[in-house]
Amino acid sequence: MCGIIGILGRGPVAEQLVDSLKRLEYRGYDSAGVATLEGQHLARRRAEGKLKNLEARLVREPLSGHSGIGHTRWATHGKPNETNAHPHAADGVAVVHNGIIENFRELRAELQAEGAKFTSETDTETVAHLVNSYIRKGASPVDAVKAALPRLRGAFALAFLFEGQDDLMIGARKGSPLAIGYGDGEMYLGSDAIALAPLTDDISYLDDDDWVVLTRKGAEVRDAKGDIVQRGVIKSGASSFVVDKANYRHFMAKEIHEQPEVVGHTLARYLDMGAERVALPAKLPFDFNDIQRISITACGTANYAGYIGKYWFERFARLPVEIDIASEFRYREAPLRKGDLAIFISQSGETADTLAALRYAKEQGLHTLSVVNVPTSTIARESEIVMPTLAGPEIGVASTKAFTCQLTVLAALAVAAGRARGELSEQDETRLVHGLIELPRLMAAALATEHQVERLARDIAKSQDVLYLGRGTSYPLALEGALKLKEISYIHAEGYAAGELKHGPIALIDEKMPVVVIAPYDRVFEKTVSNMQEVAARGGRIILITDAKGAEEATVESLVTIVMPDMDAAFTPLVYAIPAQLLAYHTAVVMGTDVDQPRNLAKSVTVE
Ligand code: AGP
Repeated sequence: MCGIIGILGRGPVAEQLVDSLKRLEYRGYDSAGVATLEGQHLARRRAEGKLKNLEARLVREPLSGHSGIGHTRWATHGKPNETNAHPHAADGVAVVHNGIIENFRELRAELQAEGAKFTSETDTETVAHLVNSYIRKGASPVDAVKAALPRLRGAFALAFLFEGQDDLMIGARKGSPLAIGYGDGEMYLGSDAIALAPLTDDISYLDDDDWVVLTRKGAEVRDAKGDIVQRGVIKSGASSFVVDKANYRHFMAKEIHEQPEVVGHTLARYLDMGAERVALPAKLPFDFNDIQRISITACGTANYAGYIGKYWFERFARLPVEIDIASEFRYREAPLRKGDLAIFISQSGETADTLAALRYAKEQGLHTLSVVNVPTSTIARESEIVMPTLAGPEIGVASTKAFTCQLTVLAALAVAAGRARGELSEQDETRLVHGLIELPRLMAAALATEHQVERLARDIAKSQDVLYLGRGTSYPLALEGALKLKEISYIHAEGYAAGELKHGPIALIDEKMPVVVIAPYDRVFEKTVSNMQEVAARGGRIILITDAKGAEEATVESLVTIVMPDMDAAFTPLVYAIPAQLLAYHTAVVMGTDVDQPRNLAKSVTVE
């Protein structure tokens, strides 16, 4: 999703703006631009496509201003071309925006009636004209922004620069995140701590409806009423994160390989390894015995993690779980019981639908617990309880290590719930915790199948469609495997509960159709083998991901069998996720797609 950077610097800022935009690339974008104050005047450079196009433009037409704003755009209103790229400008006002202005059509009509000339199809340009209209009527830049903000409906993070005002930048936030960075005689605005990391570690986050006036001396934050408010300055720690690919070709490959380590870190946060007990870092403000139902809400991969969590909470704690896609949860008006528990899962902690669902659950009087990878994110800050995943920054748009870390946290929490409710004995807990402690080693063993998966990927890359099947916790993992493949290779893929095959998808099966079957040797293995037989009888090409016992017992011939290490049946999704991720990754590499920034996708989806 769009990324924002703003710098009031002591020297030329164009290069720094582009460097920070590079750190925001992971969010996904399709055009980019910067604006600086050249003397008294605003100058813009914008380009369609990747940042290298903008860099080339800046080489041809350099900028030397000391104040500037920059933007990576993920198109919502209007095509991803140079005209629609940010910054947008109206006379002496330039603005960059992340979000959607819902009432832009009526504002645009009103401003056009006053004589404003629009050059783009975007909702954002309306904001520049609106602020400019107040300035033309005699308002100062600060008063113009103050007057304009209440007129904007929707979600936004905004950064403004004004002609003739070299020591002024204004930021505003409603829904979409925006952080202030404090430098030495310099001040910054950025979409996140990662963008600001090369500039400063001292940051503060704007709350919803805050707006901020920056000069090189500091920041004055105001709330919606216009009252001056204090927002604490924290050390972001983001500069200590090495955002590079190490020796890997892509961030996604690096992140897949980091999983044994980051799952290990996450386990260490939630378990007492010596005692083989779950040890949640903080006391929960409720008793699991008082909870009648858990509601889990998330989007995409995080939602599939939640789906696997549902199986665990129901099995270990005998607690009914409802799993929802965040955009549905908000509007279906599900009956919710005050005092029950709502869990929200999000890598970024900024996903607009998940955030809105969290706010809705809070209004309904539920306890809110979030499993997030960015502890300073809005979802983390607004949740009653935060259980961070310790995956480190995930840069590849396709989520991998965040997914397995989300599963780690959910598994520990489900075991804790089972113990609290008396559904698991001490011995059960020891067995399960032991199973969790084994995971990093087992995940490392699963990574050893990479060469086999790489060879298989050459074949999968020739396919038009791929089916993924699984039962039990392997069913949501089949959904996740299919999502991974389609989002980075652009091959159509679907995940199904294996038992559902005969209710429709079986019609798709022919000799051209690869069917990835995720089937550890567990209590439903035999049933899955029957489904494999149905596939084989119709000429489908089976790729079986199983363990040694499963490979031995499967009576159906598969094209390829990928053998996972033997392990506790409860936690197979964390290990079996690895060949699914590797298959998607290597297929995308064969296809030559942009693995880390696949087309049309954004890492942090801050619009509904
Ligand atoms: C995962 O590969 C996807 N890119 C996407 O589905 C993602 O999981 C989803 O947008 C949710 O994001 P979040 O975890 O940051 O909330």
